[in-house]
Amino acid sequence: MCGIVGYCGNRDAAGILVEGLKRLEYRGYDSSGISVGFENNLTLIKKKGKINNLKAAVPSDMPGNYGIGHTRWATHGEVNDINAHPHMDASGKLAIVHNGIIENYMSIRNKLIKEGVEFTSETDSEVIVHLISKYYEGDLEKALKTALKHLKGTYGIVAVHANEPCRLVGARNGSPLVLGIGDGEMFLASDVTAMIAYTKQVVYMEDGDIVVVDKDGFRTTDLRDNELDKEISTVGWDIGEIEKDGYPTFMEKEIFEQPESVLRGMKGRLDFEQGTAKLGGLNMSSRELRMVNRVIILAAGTSSYAAMVCAYLLEKVARIPASAELSSEIRYKNPIVEPGTLYFVVSQSGETADTLYAMRELKRKGATVLGICNVVGSTIPRESDGGVYIHSGPEIAVASTKAFTSQLTAMYLFTLIMARMRDMSTQQGQMIVESLAKVPEQIATVLEQNMNIKTIADKYAHCHSFFFLGRGLTYPIALEGALKLKEISYIHAEGYTAGELKHGPIALINEETPSVFLVPDDGLREKIISNMKEVKARKGPIIAVAVEGDTEVADIADDTIFIPKANELMYPFLMVVALQMYAHHTAVKLDRNVDQPRNLAKSVTVE
Ligand code: AGP
Repeated sequence: MCGIVGYCGNRDAAGILVEGLKRLEYRGYDSSGISVGFENNLTLIKKKGKINNLKAAVPSDMPGNYGIGHTRWATHGEVNDINAHPHMDASGKLAIVHNGIIENYMSIRNKLIKEGVEFTSETDSEVIVHLISKYYEGDLEKALKTALKHLKGTYGIVAVHANEPCRLVGARNGSPLVLGIGDGEMFLASDVTAMIAYTKQVVYMEDGDIVVVDKDGFRTTDLRDNELDKEISTVGWDIGEIEKDGYPTFMEKEIFEQPESVLRGMKGRLDFEQGTAKLGGLNMSSRELRMVNRVIILAAGTSSYAAMVCAYLLEKVARIPASAELSSEIRYKNPIVEPGTLYFVVSQSGETADTLYAMRELKRKGATVLGICNVVGSTIPRESDGGVYIHSGPEIAVASTKAFTSQLTAMYLFTLIMARMRDMSTQQGQMIVESLAKVPEQIATVLEQNMNIKTIADKYAHCHSFFFLGRGLTYPIALEGALKLKEISYIHAEGYTAGELKHGPIALINEETPSVFLVPDDGLREKIISNMKEVKARKGPIIAVAVEGDTEVADIADDTIFIPKANELMYPFLMVVALQMYAHHTAVKLDRNVDQPRNLAKSVTVE
């Protein structure tokens, strides 16, 4: 969603801000803008559409060594130049950028209008600049703090005032804000990707923090002016990880990184001898883990399908009652928190509003909530009681791929720990550990199918509707396959459990509606073959994802993607990679913007 970048230092700010915004593009946006300060003047440039429109409007020799920039993902008001941020006050001396939503903006707006303020945009954010302006008496920090006392809602804000050159003032409440400490220069941004080219030294702001930054230092306080001592962290990855590295899209790069990212998620965590795993960050003793009698996993989107796989697995392998819940639903269900229930929240970004607010609601009711996240320092891991970083590395494409397989990795390790604490034998545990260790190599084998998958994807790219069908552990993979296809190719796709097809959806099967069947060689194979025959009898084209050597399935299907033979618990990893490649090739064939699909955002920070 919206992205913020702020800079103060000795270099030309305009170039740094535009480059920072370019790095934030992946979050999803529809307009962008910058405000650059040169001595006691601010210049404002805002453009609808891609950053390149903004870049073209910014003079290459634009003077100014401080400023703020923003990518907007519209919530209040249409997509146009005026609604884009930054927003300025009437004096043209004060500018702000804002992420989040101001819930009481209407009443503030009406009051300010009565006081004679003229609004130019339809946004909720514009009230912030006029409120700060109203209270400004030569001290931006003080004016911002006074203004914040009137605001209800969520925000990450950065403000600049031309009377206080080369100073940024930021505030955070519910929308991420990170400070970057450079050599004689400072950055404020909604995530570290905007500043990683210049510094790896960062401070993650917490809700309620106010930060005042000039080129040589920073100071953090709370709203009541109490000084705060903040920890400086070092970012553990390099700029190379957010470059395409020769791949045409980030999504393809991230799909192909999975042998390494899954391996990284297991590294040092597998115990071959004891047939179990080690997860340091759970912050729970063996005794406490043994007392867990139910696990509930919450997440949104792709992460919710990882959660579903893991709920199946926990029941099947560890024999613990488990379920997956959508974050956006559980929060408003007035959830019953019972002793003995352990909650997990799964989130790549660690910032998804639905998941974060659901987690807070559960914690309010006394639940223990562990996080499974990718982005280090993000809000969910900081607010959870413990958890696991999945270490899949920065995921830039909006469509999540490598984070999904890394989320599975973390949850498989947790399941193994729980199973071995209960009634799983050492031998069974060792067998699972060995099977898990083979997964990275088996994913690499699936990736070798790339050209075959492209041929099949090209063949069906003209179709308007698809079914994705699985059962048991591969049912969530069918849901994920359908989500991947619809979000990047804009083709309608439905994920179903294959057993449900005959209860209604089969009415939609015809020659133009392909069904992608996931056929592992487990106990459900025969049942799935029957479901395939039901589709075949109605002339529906079939694409099967089947285990190497399964000629019976290949004979029924029109096209087959083979995956290597593996332990039956590991097929979710292998099948999902095939479906990610399928969706990617379809989107490329249809000339879609694979990395930044329409209407979508990487980090969904509104409910
Ligand atoms: C994935 O391809 C999606 N774009 C989306 O469903 C995503 O998984 C969802 O918004 C949850 O994000 P999170 O993992 O960062 O919480």
